[in-house]
Amino acid sequence: MRIDVISIFPDYFAPLSLSLVGKAIARGVVELGIHDLRRWTHDRHHTTDDTPYGGGAGMVMKPEPWGEALDAVEALSPSRPTIVIPTPAGEPFTQARAYELAARDHLVFACGRYEGIDQRVIDHCHDTYDTFEVSLGDYVLNGGEVAVLAITEAVVRLIPGVIGNPESLFEESHSDDNDRLLEYPNYTKPPVWRGRAVPEMLLSGNHGAIAQWRRERALERTRERRPDLLAERPPS
Ligand code: ADE
Repeated sequence: MRIDVISIFPDYFAPLSLSLVGKAIARGVVELGIHDLRRWTHDRHHTTDDTPYGGGAGMVMKPEPWGEALDAVEALSPSRPTIVIPTPAGEPFTQARAYELAARDHLVFACGRYEGIDQRVIDHCHDTYDTFEVSLGDYVLNGGEVAVLAITEAVVRLIPGVIGNPESLFEESHSDDNDRLLEYPNYTKPPVWRGRAVPEMLLSGNHGAIAQWRRERALERTRERRPDLLAERPPS
């Protein structure tokens, strides 16, 4: 997979050279390009924003540098890119969307700042490419950069071969194989820590009963913390 990121803060993406994503890049599973949007400005001050038509607070990112940047990164891969635009006005980013993006050949992340990118750029993306406007949650970040770090990690770990033990993908929270429940609690040695014992069931060696216990804990947690997830499930 090829991933290109366009941002006015390219330094934000240094952590992508670490850990699992870094290894995927080092092994050539992922080819990563980080691009400074200012490269596609043509004035002395490398201006990327301007005041909004209609008035109001804040600044809006100008369309011209974005148009040139998207044309340039599109040419970096033979396949038509999928564009991802993080925005608090997007649809919620989910594990299902992460799986969908993990199957694409070329992802381009467009990081907005200020009050966002001129809407004509977004409309151009929807008309020209497969485009997803996604939100990490109901809160506002200063720009798309932190969202891109999170989305990239969520997507790259799903590319076949990136995670050493793919079985760990099955049981985790939000996975289909776990009926999209939150994950059950996990324990390791020692059996007693600061007076807190590991639940006896997990020491029983009875795999059927353990699976049942874990499912009950997962349901219990989901009911308490995310009743919306239970409401979405098909009746079973
Ligand atoms: N940019 C600013 N806020 C955001 C959010 N909540 N999710 C994704 N991108 C954002």
